[in-house]
Amino acid sequence: MKDLTAVITGVGKALPEKRLTNADLEKMVETSDEWISKRVGIKERRMAEDGEWTSHLAARAARDALAMSGIPAEQIDLILVSTTTPDTLYPSVSCLVQRAIGAVNAGAMDVAAACTGFIYAMGTAWSMIRSGLMKNVIVIAAEVVTSSLDWTDRDTCVLFGDGAGAVVLSASEQEGTGILAMRLRADGTYADILKLPNSGSRVFPEYAGRFVKMQGNDVFRHAVRDMVECATDVVAAAGLTLADVDLFIPHQANIRIIDAIATRLNVPPEKMFVNIENYGNTSSATLPIALCEAVEQGRLKPGDILVLDAFGAGLTWGAMAIRWK
Ligand code: ACO
Repeated sequence: MKDLTAVITGVGKALPEKRLTNADLEKMVETSDEWISKRVGIKERRMAEDGEWTSHLAARAARDALAMSGIPAEQIDLILVSTTTPDTLYPSVSCLVQRAIGAVNAGAMDVAAACTGFIYAMGTAWSMIRSGLMKNVIVIAAEVVTSSLDWTDRDTCVLFGDGAGAVVLSASEQEGTGILAMRLRADGTYADILKLPNSGSRVFPEYAGRFVKMQGNDVFRHAVRDMVECATDVVAAAGLTLADVDLFIPHQANIRIIDAIATRLNVPPEKMFVNIENYGNTSSATLPIALCEAVEQGRLKPGDILVLDAFGAGLTWGAMAIRWK
């Protein structure tokens, strides 16, 4: 049997209609459009309406990705959903998507690696496909981060938004295409610098409610250092150099993090994909939403080298190098 690889055969995204602008936030906390634009790079973000759950966004993105791939839902072997904000811990979001899209032959599992979850889920799908166990896997990242925000805390509430993105990964025997290399990393010694207290079995009496808590400066420093290291490693693991990269999609958390990475890796602005101004940080959904927009904008052509690079709570970080088919 020839070596199998995994190629992206479809992409999709789903964003809530409702927009929350910096001007809206100025009315809620002591902040300004100028501060948010300069310090973070966000102009507006999307916000799920009441009754619009993570699974709805996930299913919409998955349907689009399936339609583009042309693969019938019954031929999907596995659905993986990265999320930090599931509708419920069980049933999993992936099971709700499985029901919604009629993928009657698929297994379904949620993946928890915070903002890096899309890379972890893609890596899991890649190994399933490479091993020959599965042919078609839908990988989704879907988040309603606004459900976990303290709207009186200006340090965090201006940063995040809601959305979902999806890809269909399919087996291919075409050597040298699709996913070329992956790096998955974690360091639990920094678990405390970014967390969602009261979101599980542990009770945090010191925090009221379930709201994102972050030591922004520490997270910033780790994000730059770790994403630079991971992107460098993954490109080398693929047998390439950074100069070979045609499109670089970094996690969209802060424009200053993206700029610092671009400078350190020497990636010119036209090769760096940025859409943070429109959506803010949608946690693990930033990468597949950006990938879907890159495809819509014709930014990827066959043979191009794409690098995905993410960082998040845990700490976790990871990167993937892909040759576009
Ligand atoms: N509006 C106005 N002023 C503000 C706001 C706001 N929304 N937020 C903070 N400030 C003020 C602070 O109070 C501080 O004021 P002071 O100087 O009077 O004390 C000043 O701005 C500077 O605050 P810093 O925290 O030093 O600001 P910084 O430049 O570090 O930006 C930020 C903060 C945006 C959070 C940044 O540190 C950051 O982006 N960190 C990384 C976030 C990230 O990458 N997250 C990724 C993972 S997310 C996940 O996994 C779920």
